[in-house]
Amino acid sequence: MGLAGLFHDLGMTQIPDKVVYQIEPLDPEAWETIKKHPSLTYQILKESGAMPSEVLQLVLEHHENADGSGYPSGLPLGKQHPWTRIIRLVDAYDALTGHRPFRQGLTPFAALKILQNQISPKGQSFDPRTLKNFIRFLALL
Ligand SMILES: [Fe+2]
Ligand SMILES: [Fe+2]
Repeated sequence: MGLAGLFHDLGMTQIPDKVVYQIEPLDPEAWETIKKHPSLTYQILKESGAMPSEVLQLVLEHHENADGSGYPSGLPLGKQHPWTRIIRLVDAYDALTGHRPFRQGLTPFAALKILQNQISPKGQSFDPRTLKNFIRFLALL
């Protein structure tokens, strides 16, 4: 889990800076390029020969959503590694609370509200149970 947390976005080093640091919303072509980064991370780490297969699976799946609407493979929760849902959630939380060139980081409360809003009967990016446990965990810190 720790190794996957550290290395999941390594593939972004292969994406042109122009796309990675783009401030304007991504056009469909740029978005398709970004979507390649989990597979690129997978390839780099696999070629290193230094990572357990579970780490490879977690980095490949770190943008898969609970309802199967994620990328690169659109795997629903039941077909993902059981820890993918944790990486998916804390990565999104980190993205929202971290500073970006185009905006300040959000407060933990504001970030959790956004994550909560992405769990609806229409679609679920995150596993509701994992989000509930994460909120509980943060409250104890
Ligand atoms: Fe990523
Ligand atoms: Fe990430």
